[in-house]
Amino acid sequence: MINKQEHVSLLPYNTFGIDVKADCLIEYGTPAELKEVLRSADVQNRELLVVGGGSNLLFLSDFRGTVIRSCYRFVSVLQEDDDNVRVEVGAGVTWDDFVVYCVEHGWYGAENLSLIPGQVGAAAVQNIGAYGVEVKDIVHEVHALHVPTGEERVFGNEACRYGYRASVFKGEWRGQYIVTSVVFDLGKRPSFCFDYQHLESAVRAKGNVTLQNVRNTIVEMRQGKLPDPKLLGNAGSFFKNPVVDKAAFAALAAEYPDLSHFYVSETEEKISAAWLIDRCGWKGKRLGAAGVYDRQPLVLVNLGHATGADIRHLAEQIQRSVYEKFGINLQPEVNYIGR
Ligand code: EPU
Repeated sequence: MINKQEHVSLLPYNTFGIDVKADCLIEYGTPAELKEVLRSADVQNRELLVVGGGSNLLFLSDFRGTVIRSCYRFVSVLQEDDDNVRVEVGAGVTWDDFVVYCVEHGWYGAENLSLIPGQVGAAAVQNIGAYGVEVKDIVHEVHALHVPTGEERVFGNEACRYGYRASVFKGEWRGQYIVTSVVFDLGKRPSFCFDYQHLESAVRAKGNVTLQNVRNTIVEMRQGKLPDPKLLGNAGSFFKNPVVDKAAFAALAAEYPDLSHFYVSETEEKISAAWLIDRCGWKGKRLGAAGVYDRQPLVLVNLGHATGADIRHLAEQIQRSVYEKFGINLQPEVNYIGR
């Protein structure tokens, strides 16, 4: 199935709820169809944008090009023994549906990433992460099509060059590949990641340490802190947590003993962007139709009919005050589209 629409509203395809239009939107059902789409006049010499759940995008203007969306949806076991299972999942599967599938099948590894919005393909591009786990920890390989030639290519985990919310697909080869499916390695023996503070105690408070209980705990934690995009437009964390060298960290920590931070390596420390924004007094503030969520100031929200420019204006004001107070440049995690 190839579904093409022209002059289409992107409102249903971005969780910020920004009302812009695209010249063209094409949905594909299989990699063979995507190849056909890539050869067509709708794609050749046009600006392209691949949208998953639209949960990490901020549209600044109408999109004068073609938006591509995957409807390639399947979960297929490639190999399995008593300890492990290897599954291939279509890029168009909703990420959290896959997490539910894993929990129901007794597969360990994806549960800490419960309720993250978006699709499987985008998850592998963005290297989604939460509660001590990143998707790279379970990605075996990524199947993609090369946009200019339509050639299929398989990227092993190493070749994806994963980093914090980073991969080769959004870095060096941005716009060059479209992910069609992702192969995951999951465990079949109980194994949990409780690195995130208080996660284990929160799970134990619910009863036994099971996949379902871990999922339920994480769902509750997220729902308590992060707004539901269906009710209040947002794209999760707007900024990345800044990573600074130990000397810069030591200087800040000396001045602010309650600074919230996480260990990265012997030479670097990650600072909580939420803490920095909070200490600049932004929590719950609004600028026109754009606001800072009161329960998690790393999340910017659309209070109703905000434009991309309204949200960007708020983001820039926050960046400026964090820089003036702490000398740290916050980088958006959200991708700005248009100008
Ligand atoms: N904090 C404050 N004030 C607040 C809220 C938080 O100072 O009002 C400080 C606290 O010290 C808290 C710390 O911020 O301990 C960290 O907060 P949280 O545990 O919510 O994590 P985060 O670093 O703000 C990251 C990810 C989230 C992910 C959570 C949980 C990034 C940019 N964000 O947020 O991912 O869900 O950890 O693991 O790495 C996303 O990427 O869209 C996202 C939501």
